[in-house]
Amino acid sequence: MRLAGATDLGAIKTLRDEFYSEFPPPPWRDESWETRKSDVVQVVRRGGAFVAQGRQDPVGYALAWPEGINAVKLGDLYVRPQHRGRGVGGALVRAVAEFARAQGAAYVHLTANLEALRFYDRLPFVEQSRNLAAPVAKLLEH
Ligand SMILES: CC(C)(COP(=O)(O)OP(=O)(O)OC[C@H]1O[C@@H](n2cnc3c(N)ncnc32)[C@H](O)[C@@H]1OP(=O)(O)O)[C@@H](O)C(=O)NCCC(=O)NCCS
Repeated sequence: MRLAGATDLGAIKTLRDEFYSEFPPPPWRDESWETRKSDVVQVVRRGGAFVAQGRQDPVGYALAWPEGINAVKLGDLYVRPQHRGRGVGGALVRAVAEFARAQGAAYVHLTANLEALRFYDRLPFVEQSRNLAAPVAKLLEH
């Protein structure tokens, strides 16, 4: 596990593309690289980007940044499918927790993919709210 630097931007882009093609964001969120690149660069500069290095290529990444009062948001967390279940995700969360502590933050918060809930349930995360969305047309028909 290592802190990502500017030279990791290409690897983060590749992993991020894989993440969003496996789990497409909701249609109202623009997660294209063109839109998000400057945010990612900022996260890397602030020391909140982590890369899990495999033998050759990076196998996972996490992005986190201060958001809220005394809190850090875990924005992206992804491990390549063939490397899951071996503690890489847990190690990335640990790196984010250490980043949060260094920032003086008391909490790490995130919006979880439903598929990842069981992973977070094994850690000390507690559900705080549910995100809901409805198509406007359906709301108007209702
Ligand atoms: C969620 C994710 C990052 C976990 O990474 P990982 O490297 O597999 O995690 P770990 O190996 O550290 O797993 C820790 C524990 O959670 C369990 N676990 C991991 N992913 C799980 C899942 N999707 N469903 C159920 N259990 C899961 C593991 O079995 C392990 O349990 P154990 O310690 O008792 O053996 C990875 O599955 C992933 O990239 N998923 C797709 C992207 C995603 O959903 N990211 C989260 C965005 S909110």
